[in-house]
Amino acid sequence: MPQKYAAGNWKMNGLVSDLTEVLEIDKGVAGLSCKTIICLPATLIYAADGDPRQHVEIGGQCCHSAPSGAHTGDVSAEMLFEAGATYVIVGHSERRADHGETDSDVRAQVGAAWRAGLVAILCIGETLEQREAGETLSVLMGQLDGSLPEGVTPEALIVAYEPVWAIGTGKVATPEQVAEVHDALREKLGPEISLLYGGSVKAANAAELFALTNVDGALVGGASLKAADFVPIVKALSDS
Ligand code: 13P
Repeated sequence: MPQKYAAGNWKMNGLVSDLTEVLEIDKGVAGLSCKTIICLPATLIYAADGDPRQHVEIGGQCCHSAPSGAHTGDVSAEMLFEAGATYVIVGHSERRADHGETDSDVRAQVGAAWRAGLVAILCIGETLEQREAGETLSVLMGQLDGSLPEGVTPEALIVAYEPVWAIGTGKVATPEQVAEVHDALREKLGPEISLLYGGSVKAANAAELFALTNVDGALVGGASLKAADFVPIVKALSDS
């Protein structure tokens, strides 16, 4: 059985004073059967590392492919690892859109994550235009083919399906749409890789998504910022 993960992505939100929410989440998820990850802005990872957490693991949100060098403003996978991260999101559609990251960039970043000892959370997703043109599965399989290096293992890779049109829009994909994609991903990636859904996941729609056979958890943006919103999602996953 794939490992179940509830992963939060804080995006460009949060100051050190907001790390109290991570501690609240940590308390709230005690005893639950899934893993809980919060992917923090790079500036907060080291600060969070000093906090007395017992359950929540920490991730970064992107990494450069090189271990060090003349790349102003970038952060390497080794830096994230040293600061206290054990996971890193790669290929998020916001990175692809805002920073022009391509599948081959993402592939190099997955390799960098593994080099540094981080688990890569690889995001893939289609735009509304691609879905309406009937291209969803071919776009997603193309992203996987282009961005996965050799040597994938369930210990080192998590895949998150995040339809671009569902991110931050309040428009969650229907269970039928999610099932179609996740069944195809399972077929392609085998029985052990954890497959997360992301895009407007909230406590109110989480249980329905987690009931699907090939959904092993969620990557949550807005609803991961507050323990009061995120803990019920983690509970729904643990109960599924
Ligand atoms: P929202 O949950 O805010 O839609 O964001 C999803 C996301 O992009 C997580 O990576």
